[in-house]
Amino acid sequence: MSRPRSTNKLILFFVALAAALLAVWLFWSFEPDVRALLGRRMGTSPSPSVDTIVAAVKLFLLGILGYLLVRALNSFFFELAFRLKRIDAPTLIRNIFTIVAFSIFFLIAFTFLFPDVNLGALFTTSAIFGVILGLALQDTLGNFFSGISLQADRPFQVGDVIAVGAQRHTGVVEEISWRAIKIRTFTNHVVLIANSTAAKEPIEVFPRDNLNARVVWFNTLYTDSPAKTIHVVREAVREAENVSDKVTPVVRIRNLGDNGVDYEVKYWPEDYAKYNDTDALVRQRIWYAFRRAGLNFAYPTRTLYVERPSKAAARDVDGGAIAERLSAVDLFAPLSADETGLLAQAAVRHVFAPGEMVIRAGDPGSSMFVVHNGRVQVQINENGRSRSIATLNEGDFFGEMALFTGEPRTANVVALEETEVLEIGHAAMKRVFDANPDLVESLSFIIAERRQGLTSLADVALPVAHTSAGILSSIKRFFGL
Ligand code: CMP
Repeated sequence: MSRPRSTNKLILFFVALAAALLAVWLFWSFEPDVRALLGRRMGTSPSPSVDTIVAAVKLFLLGILGYLLVRALNSFFFELAFRLKRIDAPTLIRNIFTIVAFSIFFLIAFTFLFPDVNLGALFTTSAIFGVILGLALQDTLGNFFSGISLQADRPFQVGDVIAVGAQRHTGVVEEISWRAIKIRTFTNHVVLIANSTAAKEPIEVFPRDNLNARVVWFNTLYTDSPAKTIHVVREAVREAENVSDKVTPVVRIRNLGDNGVDYEVKYWPEDYAKYNDTDALVRQRIWYAFRRAGLNFAYPTRTLYVERPSKAAARDVDGGAIAERLSAVDLFAPLSADETGLLAQAAVRHVFAPGEMVIRAGDPGSSMFVVHNGRVQVQINENGRSRSIATLNEGDFFGEMALFTGEPRTANVVALEETEVLEIGHAAMKRVFDANPDLVESLSFIIAERRQGLTSLADVALPVAHTSAGILSSIKRFFGL
């Protein structure tokens, strides 16, 4: 069985304290015997050298006792008293307290045990002592006083991200001690920067409780519209994880470059320490948004003449795969091959990144989707938290409720992995209904079933038509059948 570390430390402390107290008590009780023994060994009794040895041993023992007491006082004061007020005492302050308290204790013990020695004179007259001490402690004292000024100034705190000096050591501040600032870099290395070095270098601070901006660059072809690019990127970035919703991302043209239009997107991460991941996610979201919106990244251009298969042939291969997918959807089972082919021609493909929202509850919608590749999750709002109610795989469909009834979207649908969906709009569906009115009935049945599930689960208020008959008539009305 392992005890917690604090209990072990406490036990060790009490054992050491008991040993020190015992040693002091023993030495004081047997002092006459020790003096007699020393006197016999050293010839004369009593002599000044015996006094000095006894006083030095006493000073040593009292020093140990004093050190333990100062440690106890330190723990009591900073861990107990400061914790009560929920303040974390900086290491530097604790160290200064220990040094000052121990020095006072030691000086009192020294003057008490060596009353003949004038300490003041010893320090003031010993110029050599001063020079040696000054030289030896030059760096240490420099660090110490820089550390004090850092604590007093408080330009940053533990938990903030800082970048120090020309080498730009960047990381999260873990500790500010009397000697150095300890930062943990984003590659999980620890870097120690001496306080005196930090005092001379410029330090960039990204405080934890502040919205610090990031800038990510990308580019497009000259043929892509800036207004469309700015809108598409802004919407894609504001949805990304760790991007603060307090400030809307800013997308702007940075330069008209050699290969295309250079843009920057400025966003504000909620947790700045995760900016590497968030920058990467922002770039990923831009890629997917570009793909869906038909925008193109610029790259160094050369004019090449390449023989390509004809566009019609490419469309045939694509169209074949889509028609095959749609004919396997159970909802479209009553359709003939020609009708499915018509739907396939009208279907538009979209790719979504993992975690991206395909449909947002409450939005208006006039299209439905079939999962072509990947998986999506249907989520509803329950007491302000989202809860998954279904996972849809390749060949499943969603978004039919808003399309067929004209009501707002009833749930969020989120891509679980990179997912390709086929979007089918109102006009294409109307053509199919006109050709095959039986479809409406089976569809209203599915909608009624899903709707039943939703009302029993969610805190969503759904409009009146709950039964499949009610839905059937609302579809007919909406599609003018
Ligand atoms: P719509 O309301 O247009 O948008 C959200 C979609 O989530 C909805 O259409 C349905 O396609 C889908 N949905 C809602 N409830 C369920 C469910 N219980 N099982 C599967 N899909 C659902």
